[in-house]
Amino acid sequence: MTPVLEYGNEWKTHRRLFHLSLRSDIVDKYNNLHLTNANQLLENILRDSANLFEHFDLFAGAAAVELIYGRRVEGKDDPVFAMASGLAEVLCKELTPDRVVLLKVMPFLRYLPSWFPGAGFKRNAAKCRGMAAEMAELPFAMAKDEMDRGVLSHCMISDMLKHGGVEESAAKGALSGVYIAGTESTGTILKTVALVMILYPDVQDKVHEELDAVVGRGTLPTFADRPRLPYLQAVLYEVMRWSPPSPLGLPHVTTASDTYEGYYIPKGTMVLFNYWAMAMKDHGYDDPERFDPTRHLTSDGQLSPQARQNNSMFFGFGKRVCPGRFFAEHSHWAAAAVMLSALKFGKAKDSSGKYIDVEPVFSDGLTRCPAPFPCSITSRLVE
Ligand code: HEM
Repeated sequence: MTPVLEYGNEWKTHRRLFHLSLRSDIVDKYNNLHLTNANQLLENILRDSANLFEHFDLFAGAAAVELIYGRRVEGKDDPVFAMASGLAEVLCKELTPDRVVLLKVMPFLRYLPSWFPGAGFKRNAAKCRGMAAEMAELPFAMAKDEMDRGVLSHCMISDMLKHGGVEESAAKGALSGVYIAGTESTGTILKTVALVMILYPDVQDKVHEELDAVVGRGTLPTFADRPRLPYLQAVLYEVMRWSPPSPLGLPHVTTASDTYEGYYIPKGTMVLFNYWAMAMKDHGYDDPERFDPTRHLTSDGQLSPQARQNNSMFFGFGKRVCPGRFFAEHSHWAAAAVMLSALKFGKAKDSSGKYIDVEPVFSDGLTRCPAPFPCSITSRLVE
């Protein structure tokens, strides 16, 4: 999978393939995909608000499956979604930065037999490998068959196959990591949006005010409304800053020795970007723990010129910068805009009618994700 490949020809081929489908000047092609999925998300929440997190995960996974395989996912029983999300769940639990570091500093751990106490990660690694191989083969074969029959919708596979000269093994390799890279973080962002709406009701009121003024109450927004909704955009930027989905990013390794600010860094050193520190203090944010979208706005309520640039750091830097960042931004926007125009999040009540306070709790793993919280969701579509 791309994120764990060393710099070299295979990785370069993956990046070239991503460029075909994910570069900034063509991601608008997916706007219908995002809006259809966002409307489906809204329907799912209105029908069954108790399983909010499940709906967010389905939204993120359905977008990724459609992007990669051109396959519309109707529900969580879709076989490709079920296979991909099963693998993502195991991998994200196993592939935490602290474990990667542990294996790096104590490489002998890899040679422990899998029955050895504490070496359960080896059994899971073998399981993951089998699941990943199946995931690389099966949906690819299904999409290729559809392509041969002329019924495959536009997607990463169709871009790759039409482009020609792409080795099938390279295409499968490149695609196999996209689902995991794309879904965990998107699901996390949407869960954080919902959490923030409960913790900061004044922010939610302003989002509603803006949507009502620009789009009109009872009308669902489309991408044409996006430039006229700066406050909503600022909320999304602030969600990334307030709780970066991947606070330590992915581990990197230096390919040559270097000296930086007086520190000698030998070749082969593992380097982690501390996005958390950058979000909390390095940019001199005032009272950084506070959720405040106005940090990204000018005094007259427009997005500040550096807002997008500041946000882009959470997608990584340089050659390994996230190739899915433009797709991701559109996806978050569609989900948040549609959901917030139609719904209001608030505190749930206990059996005696008292409001339940929400304490933000976050999970460990590849991403830092809010743990489920009690909430009440009401529709704004009917008054
Ligand atoms: C909130 C959403 C997302 C965030 C915050 C995010 C963030 C990141 C970060 C921090 C990296 C590591 C960069 C580095 O190594 O320096 C990365 C890599 C990657 N991301 Fe994303 N990402 C998001 C969504 C997506 C989506 C939607 C896709 C695919 C459609 C995607 C595909 C990838 C891939 C393939 C890599 C590996 C790149 C490489 O190693 O060359 N990401 N992402």
